[in-house]
Amino acid sequence: MTDPTARFDIAHLARAELFTPRPQETLDFFTKFLGMYVTHREGQSVYLRGYEDPYQWSLKVTEAPEAGMGHAALRASSPEALERRVASLKQGNVEGTWSEDQFGYGKTFEFQSPDGHNLQLLWEVEKYVAPQELQSKILSRPSKKPLSGIPVKRIDHLNLMASDVTPLKDSFERHLGFRTTERVVDGNVEIGAWMSSNLLGHEVACMRDMTGGRGKLHHLAFYYGTGQHLADAVEMFRDYDIQIEAGPDKHGITQGQFLYVFEPGGNRIELFGEAGYLHLDPDAETKTWQMSDIDTGLAVGGAKLPWETYFTYGTPNPLALDQHIEKFSHFGPGAPVDDPEVSAAERAVPDEIDHSRAVSGSPV
Ligand SMILES: [Fe+2]
Ligand SMILES: [Fe+2]
Repeated sequence: MTDPTARFDIAHLARAELFTPRPQETLDFFTKFLGMYVTHREGQSVYLRGYEDPYQWSLKVTEAPEAGMGHAALRASSPEALERRVASLKQGNVEGTWSEDQFGYGKTFEFQSPDGHNLQLLWEVEKYVAPQELQSKILSRPSKKPLSGIPVKRIDHLNLMASDVTPLKDSFERHLGFRTTERVVDGNVEIGAWMSSNLLGHEVACMRDMTGGRGKLHHLAFYYGTGQHLADAVEMFRDYDIQIEAGPDKHGITQGQFLYVFEPGGNRIELFGEAGYLHLDPDAETKTWQMSDIDTGLAVGGAKLPWETYFTYGTPNPLALDQHIEKFSHFGPGAPVDDPEVSAAERAVPDEIDHSRAVSGSPV
């Protein structure tokens, strides 16, 4: 249950760090295709921001042996709100440590989710101030829209893969004041939960890892605010061999418009078109989707979110993406194995066909 006195103590997702074994290609993805600005370099890391991100950086790309999420940080609504949320975590026996070692941010509390994700809370930030040549005439915009690719405005949300959704959801509700706007259940088992600290449908979501893995990243999302950009972006990705997983389409859950791709390091990135349903009603009940309605929940327009990746692949992953796809190609409900007609149809599909999802430009 959400502690009502904690509502709005967390303002929003401020930043996340992605690990990549292919740092230059990952950096090219975020700068050339998604138009993010580089604001800082340090060691094996590059710091980036979208043109409407308010702080020095929202994304840190760090070279590492495996893809995955280094950490994600939520900004509190005030110094007092930060202290309240840290006190709640400590009362719940969630251990953590304070540090102050990230470029552009101050004192930060680091702890782990019940599934082992590295999460952080902070208040102190350094606001981004553009040099004169990058200042926008639109005063609410911290910098000009760049002339590169299809530029994202800002970081949007985080989706964590977990061995068990429920304890992670409970922790966000109890300690961080999030409310669960929507969830998916299969009988008594929670398959997914979408949680919000503000008016958006979610700042953080959690999905059950069907492989039983723990503490993985499902995806990090960036915001366009305009659905047409997804149609433009998917053409760009197709032309330049960025692996597309699914979309563009519109989720029933959250009503957000989505496009999922894999950046060259192997992390799943979601591009969010229109923000979807805004939660203005302060005591709205959580909407619960049954698995029987999951097709509407996932994609109103009928796009198929592939079982071989969407429900099984997170980062870090024991297999490279193309190997993972091969291993899980027959995973999922109704997966054909012995039906002769289906086998014949499968044989008729040329091996070299350029499928519309999850196969082109596969990172090795
Ligand atoms: Fe998402
Ligand atoms: Fe999504």
